[in-house]
Amino acid sequence: MLIRGGVTHPVNSFAADVREGLGRDGQKELPSKYLYDDVGSALFEVITRLPEYGLIRAEERILRRHSGAIAERLASHGIAVELGSGSGRKTRRILEALAQRQSTTYCPIEISSTALESCERELDDLPNVSILGFETEYLDGLGRAVARREPGEGVMVLFLGSSIGNFDRGPGEDFLRKIRRALEPGDALLLGTDLEKPLDQLIPAYDDALGVTAVFNRNLLARINRELGGDFDLSRFEHVALYNARERRIEMHLRSLEKQTISIGGANFTFQRDETIWTERCHKYGRQEAAEMAKRTGFECVAQWVDSEWAFAENLLVAS
Ligand SMILES: C[S@@+](CC[C@H](N)C(=O)[O-])C[C@H]1O[C@@H](n2cnc3c(N)ncnc32)[C@H](O)[C@@H]1O
Repeated sequence: MLIRGGVTHPVNSFAADVREGLGRDGQKELPSKYLYDDVGSALFEVITRLPEYGLIRAEERILRRHSGAIAERLASHGIAVELGSGSGRKTRRILEALAQRQSTTYCPIEISSTALESCERELDDLPNVSILGFETEYLDGLGRAVARREPGEGVMVLFLGSSIGNFDRGPGEDFLRKIRRALEPGDALLLGTDLEKPLDQLIPAYDDALGVTAVFNRNLLARINRELGGDFDLSRFEHVALYNARERRIEMHLRSLEKQTISIGGANFTFQRDETIWTERCHKYGRQEAAEMAKRTGFECVAQWVDSEWAFAENLLVAS
């Protein structure tokens, strides 16, 4: 069964965020959530199938092998809320395992309507699972999903794909604290963290041979042209993926190949040659780091599974 919980679109926030991010004196920056319009969500699906991007397959293997064990620990958790579900392909395993024990309400929270629709289509055939999707930001959706809990019913939150890595470390912990505040003791958070690994494995995952990630990144400029009347010439920007060793993160940037001025809805933004727009950060973690973050944010890490082919950890946290 499929129900839509509602849509919340912050009016004009895309335009305001673009103006603010490109108008900065120092490093220009655009929030990574804007990478996911219709085209971006479709491109991300292609990225998940590229040989270089091992992260998603690693998490799929973990969930295929261990969903039964995860569900066993969550006997009374009848609501599963997924933050940024994407296509939901990986989530099938965990929902099947949960729904074998009890009827389950699955609430995907997505900012991208395309991703949300494909998630709902992907999982609509699961027996004993009702789908209630919310097209909105993470915490707004979490609050609305949790409000539906019946007395005594537990909530499980899924934050997969190492999307926590799109936050800087401090703000990432603040985000975990906000999730915790929306929950009750005994509720669970399944948190995927991509682990540190050799650069010859890591860099190609964000700079693949086919150039799909480059197109995914440049689509943000195309989206500004489409939706905000920008005049970016995409051929004058190149995709850059670099590893920042001090911060232990991949950074994606778009580098201006020449000095140029871009007009967006009547406002002008000047780029120097080689100046970049920072579009995404993907932090990498030590194996124990999720447990340490859990302790500092009101959770306890009760189990962890690590893939043997691609260093990726699935961490089961329980709200203290
Ligand atoms: C990197 S993808 C991961 C998708 C999926 N969780 C996976 O592991 O394959 C991030 C997803 O989160 C969504 N997203 C990003 N920022 C969001 C936000 N602030 N609120 C809700 N959804 C968001 C995007 O639209 C995208 O589908």
